[in-house]
Formats: sequence, structure tokens, C-alpha cells
Amino acid sequence: MTVLEHMTIDERHVARNYAPLPVVAASADGVWITDVAGRRYLDCLAAYSAVNFGHRNPEITAVAHAQLDTVTLVSRAFHSDRLGPFCAALARMCGKEMVLPMNTGAEAVESGIKVARKWGTDAKGVPAGRANIVVAQNNFHGRTTTIVSFSDDDTARSGFGPFTPGFRSVPFGDAGAVAAAIDENTVAVLLEPIQGEAGIIVPPDDFLPGVRALCTERNVLMIADEIQSGLARTGRTFACDHWDVVPDMYLLGKALGGGVVPVSAVVADEEILGVLHPGEHGSTFGGNPLAAAVGSTVVAMLERGEYQARSAELGALLHTRLAELCGAGVLAVRGKGLWAGVDIDPRLGTGKQISVRLAERGVLVKDTHGHTLRFAPPLVITAEEIEWAVAQFAAVLAGR
Ligand SMILES: Cc1ncc(COP(=O)(O)O)c(C=O)c1O
Repeated sequence: MTVLEHMTIDERHVARNYAPLPVVAASADGVWITDVAGRRYLDCLAAYSAVNFGHRNPEITAVAHAQLDTVTLVSRAFHSDRLGPFCAALARMCGKEMVLPMNTGAEAVESGIKVARKWGTDAKGVPAGRANIVVAQNNFHGRTTTIVSFSDDDTARSGFGPFTPGFRSVPFGDAGAVAAAIDENTVAVLLEPIQGEAGIIVPPDDFLPGVRALCTERNVLMIADEIQSGLARTGRTFACDHWDVVPDMYLLGKALGGGVVPVSAVVADEEILGVLHPGEHGSTFGGNPLAAAVGSTVVAMLERGEYQARSAELGALLHTRLAELCGAGVLAVRGKGLWAGVDIDPRLGTGKQISVRLAERGVLVKDTHGHTLRFAPPLVITAEEIEWAVAQFAAVLAGR
């Protein structure tokens, strides 16, 4: 089938909750995606950071293939020889004691919210049904009913009510506003340490340390949603590491599944995750042997530190090259490591229009919030590939 035929069948039979670029992937390797017509594209999105280690990373696919030939799913009705070692390794990497394994990012966020509320009731003594959680404006934590309940994106919310109560939204980056929002029934502050979908927004340096101190002082859980920002994307294992902040709970997903299977997790100490008892939470696929085998490999790869180092080093190059385009169609560049949000001069077109033109030149990026583009390539990208991708971007901005 041609690109057009694929797009036509998608239009008719695939629910239209996405507006994809006109690119039909057929295969992928490392940082490159090949479409059904044999055209190659440099992937500068990496499935929103789920493909941090590159498409079909051989270390990950070898383990996945072996596990496919062994055992893939038993549900949590039984133990499996893969789950315990995975959770032990992930907990150790996070400096925590326990892991609640789930599948998607949104499930990890939902699970974190449930655990925080239960901790509030059981450990903090918040009256049942009265817990509140402080969140940040312009957050993005997923698309379930509870999560969109505290989003301020009209598209994500409109028509989907009634919403889940119990959330208070404050400006991102303002620790004073967080302090003012906390009361005796606050059980958690839930934040992306760097806001991804909002446009790679890096908070002021005093924000995360300030929130950490407040949470400790007021007996409130600090929950870091590192689903997009974590696992080497920013040049450190966690984005929180840039500020030497350790949250009480990490929410992880995306790259934890190595770009192969959905693997997400809530990671915290036993005094927090220990509030869950049999029957209070669950997932048929959560922590399945295939997911655990892949997740263990991802943790082992992260423990070597090479992906964090690559992201830091090559991220510096990416940011330097993008910053050179300021004044030539770029208004601002933000981010850390191989993660950059680039604001485009609206006179050159929308983010979507620029993304389409970039795709025509063989580079895949994703727009967000009208005039911002996100560059987040797999961390296996080379310096030459970065130079080439930014040269294509410069050419598009120059109208070539
Ligand atoms: C910070 C953050 N949290 C949660 C999610 C939701 O993850 P998923 O799409 O796997 O449900 C995302 C997805 O982009 C995210 O960026």
C-alpha cells in the first residue's frame, strides 16, 4: 500500500484522537525510521522519550526475544522469576525500597494518586475522602478521566466531565504558591520536574528544592512524574538530579519499556507503598515477565551511565546549534540534555506546518502548543546526525 492508501484506511478506521504527520513508518533502527515507500527519516521525537535507547536497541531486543521463548505472562496471581529482581534493581537505582509495576504512564500517575491518598488516610490521618493534591498549571500527566480533571488544557477536558475532585493547581515554578496551597488535608505535591508537553519548561533553580523542603516540613509526599523527563533524557538519570532533589515517589514509564513493551512504575519506600494490600490495586499485565525482563535490562543499561553522559554531551551540541538559530526564525530554546523546546517565530507558520516541512526534509519532530517544536532524539544519535538535523531545520526556517 502507498502512503496515501495507509492514510486513507487510518482516517476511516482509526479513532481520530491524534493528528499524525503524513509519514507511515514501516521499520526503524537506531535513530532512523523508514516509511512504506522506503524513505528514511531521522527520528527527533523518540516516541515522546519511550525510545531513549534507540529503535530496536540490540541489547533490549535480545532479552525480549529470549523472554518470548520462555514465559511472557502469568498475571500477578503467581510469582514469576523476573518480577522480584526487576523491582529490586529499579528500587535500588531510585534509592527506594519498593516498586509498584504498571504498564502505561497514565496508569503510573493514577496509581501514584491512589497510593498518596491511601497514605494520607492511613499514615497521615487525613479524614477519608478529604485528601487534596497540589499540581502545577500547564501540567501533562496523561489522559485518563482523573488526570484530565486537573489539566488546564481545554481540548483534553471539554466534554469529558464530570471530573474527579481533590486537586489544586498552582503556577509551575512558584514554591510560594505551593506553600499557600498546602493545608492539613494535602497528601501530595505532584509535578513534572521539567514540564514536557507544556514546551520543555525548566523551572527556576529554587523551585524543586523549595518544594522538597516544604513537603518534608508539612508531611506531604513529593511526587515526581519522571515519565518523560527521566531515564537519561536530560543528561542525568532523573531530571530531579539536576537540583539534587530526591522526591518521595518517582513515577516512571515510557523508556522503562525500552521502546518494546509498555512498562511503568511507582517507586517509593515501604512506608509509602506499604499502604497497599491485596485487592486494593492491580493490573493483569503489570509486571509481566516480558516487561520485567525488558525493564531489568533498561535499569542495567542506565546503571552504566553511558546514556546519561551521551545525553549531556550531545545535548550541549544540540542546544548550541539550536541557539544559533535565535533571530533566524527561532525565538527561544529551552531544555536540558537531548531535550529541547524551540519556540518558532509565528510569522514563519505554525509548529505543525514547520514539522511537516521538516518531515519533507527527512527530520521528524513534534509540535506542541502552537508554535513550539520539541527535539528529543533517541540518545544514540551522533554529533553528525545532530548537525544534519539542525541544518535541515535552519533550511526550513530560511524558507528553503
Ligand atoms: C510527564 C508525563 N506523564 C504521563 C504521561 C502519560 O504516559 P502514557 O501516554 O504512557 O499514558 C506522559 C505522556 O506523554 C507524560 O509526558
